[in-house]
Amino acid sequence: MKFYIATDHAGIRYKEFVKELLESKGIEVEDLGPYTPDRVDYPDYAKKCAEAVREDAGSFGILICGTGIGMSIAANKVKGIRAALCHDAYTAEMARAHNNAQILCFGERVLGQGVVESVIDAFINTQPEEGRHAERVAKIMQIDEANN
Ligand code: RB5
Repeated sequence: MKFYIATDHAGIRYKEFVKELLESKGIEVEDLGPYTPDRVDYPDYAKKCAEAVREDAGSFGILICGTGIGMSIAANKVKGIRAALCHDAYTAEMARAHNNAQILCFGERVLGQGVVESVIDAFINTQPEEGRHAERVAKIMQIDEANN
């Protein structure tokens, strides 16, 4: 399992914490920045991470900004990407089980570190469900195909 991670200035304080958490579980992590706390624009980092995930089949991404909202909106504009804004273990589990999301987004200003840990655990330990859920994901990708 490999994760790409990126943040903006409002999410950068959680980047090292999340990297260490994933690495402690034996998961490979590639840090796509930023590498300083200076103010940056979240769409730039959402694009960088989403394109990396799309080009590396089977990989996953984590995007962190203040709320997670901007990152999720921007990442979902990248063809082939399903990015989910999650607030707790349940939404993270459903993002994988029902939506087959490849990118997990959350807000550093919204979630405490304990919740982030449970969100990441749920995301990495849940597999996409087949049947009606896979069919709905296929419909999402048909919209993507028709509009990109
Ligand atoms: C930055 O102030 C903030 O707008 C950004 O991190 C994010 O929350 C946007 O959705």
